Formats: sequence, C-alpha cells, structure tokens
Amino acid sequence: MNPSRRPLIAGNWKMFNGGRAGVELAEACVAFARDLPGVDVVIAPPYTALAAVADTIDGSPVALAAQNLYPKDQGPFTGEISGPMLEECGCTWVIVGHSERRQIFGETDAFVAEKTSAALAHDLLPIVCVGETLQQREAGETLRVVKQQIDAFLDVIARTPKAVAIAYEPVWAIGTGKTAGPTEAEEVHAAIRSWLEKKDADLAKRTRILYGGSVKADNAAALLACPNVDGALVGGASLDAGSFGAIARAARRPS
Ligand code: PGA
Repeated sequence: MNPSRRPLIAGNWKMFNGGRAGVELAEACVAFARDLPGVDVVIAPPYTALAAVADTIDGSPVALAAQNLYPKDQGPFTGEISGPMLEECGCTWVIVGHSERRQIFGETDAFVAEKTSAALAHDLLPIVCVGETLQQREAGETLRVVKQQIDAFLDVIARTPKAVAIAYEPVWAIGTGKTAGPTEAEEVHAAIRSWLEKKDADLAKRTRILYGGSVKADNAAALLACPNVDGALVGGASLDAGSFGAIARAARRPS
C-alpha cells in the first residue's frame, strides 16, 4: 500500500440486509470504524436500506455507497435509481460495473463509462469494477481484458480531479472462496497503475485500486500489503461486522 493513498475498505452487501438487519449491521460498522481513523470505511447496502443506514451512520466515519445507478437524472425508467436520488439519500460513493451487473444484466463497457460519468456529475465517487473470467485468465487474456474495460472509462476519470476508485475483481474469485494470491493481484494492480500513469501521472497517484474477490479476515493482510493494493471491495465477509472489521483493521498502516 502506498502511503499517499489512504486505505479504503468497502463492503458490498449485494441483495442482503435490505431492512432492519441493515441498520444493525451499519451500527456495528460504526462501532469498529471509530477506532480506525486511518482507514476509509464504506458500506453499500441495498437501495431499500440506504435512507435508514444514512441516518444510522450520520456523523460517523462510515460513508455510504449505492451498488448501482442509472445514468439519467430522472424520467420514465421504471425500477431505476438516479445519481441525484442517491445523493439525496446521503450516498457519497457508488459501485459501478460490478461483474454481476455486467454478467447477469448485460452491462457493456460503454454503459459502465456512462454510469461513471453520471456518478461524477453528481458528487458520487465511483468504485468502478473490472476483472476477467476464469476462461479469460486460463487463455492468458487477463491484462488485455482488464485494459479494455479500463480504456472504456479512462478519459472520464482523467477529466476530473476527483479521486475515484477502481476495483480489480477477478470474476472467478467472487463468492467462490478462491482468491487471487498477492502475487497475482499485484501483477494486475501494477499494470492498472501503469496504464493510469501513462494517461496522467496525478491520476495514477490519486486513484485507489482495490482488490475484490473472496477477501476474508485471514487473507486480507497479505493482499493489502501489496504496493499497489490500496484497499478491498468485500462481498460475503462484509455481511458480518466481526470479519469486516478485521479486514478493515488489516488495512491499518503502522503509525
Ligand atoms: P466476495 O464478493 O467478497 O463475496 O467474493 C466481492 C464482490 O463481489 O464485490
């Protein structure tokens, strides 16, 4: 982890804890985050829990993210939620282009770029997700695939001085218990950093590159020790405040 970037640990609750349970989990996250002043803790509940969780974390160090947004401000888009709505709910972050959105809902690179742009237009910092499938990794296409995904939104994030986050999440590691080892993760993170650097040196310095895919309390420290891993996007383990807190503690830097 590079000392110029504060570690960021984000919990993606996916389609879990959309009601009362979400408020309880958020309370528990506030409790551990108060003891971690050097770590940015972000939680991404389902839409139905956003307003209640926003109340719970108000005045605490925990920040609120949505898991998705629609790139238009308002209009006849049944079932969709816009950037201004998320902002009004208290979100300061939004996850964009998660592999489940790309794979299950057919989101393209161009649509992910459009969403990234809409997020930035509304004071929502995007956590833009990229990552290869198992088939692509086995075919030796990991870096080509990830570069193509990043190229689609590179201009968008280079146009703003805001510090966005990119999450490298190998699809084969999400929810499977398989993690990229620190060496595999660092190889891709370093490549991403070099592409950002080529575009703009300051962009490479300010962008936090998170690792995601079966991050747990027992593998977090090794991943977070990699020089280009600036944090983690955590799914399953973020549903338990004990393990999410342990991951966040693993991100602390020696003072
Ligand atoms: P996981 O999910 O930690 O359960 O593998 C990560 C993610 O999908 O963001």
